Amino acid sequence: MIFAAKTSEIPSFGKKGVTLGGKALLLVNVKGEFFVCDDECPHQGSPMSGGIVKEGFISCPRHGFRFDLRSGACIDAPAFQLKIYPTELRGDELFVDIS
Ligand code: FES
Repeated sequence: MIFAAKTSEIPSFGKKGVTLGGKALLLVNVKGEFFVCDDECPHQGSPMSGGIVKEGFISCPRHGFRFDLRSGACIDAPAFQLKIYPTELRGDELFVDIS
């Protein structure tokens, strides 16, 4: 697990882009529950940082495919899977496993 950000840096229903270990990642806060995913849509590579977070899903800004932030499953096109990384909260700090 490596340090990703302080939770206070990620507003509720907000996002924060970071680069860790050479990977562009997106940190997402859903009402105090934190998720980390690739900041690149598995469909055609659009940055997920421009997406909308709603009810545990993030939608890609380009074609609107919705991805479950827990599993990475795409509910609009099941052939595509967004990479989701394991996270751990330590106090007010968010850690992620990018291995
Ligand atoms: S590039 Fe994301 S849905 Fe098409």
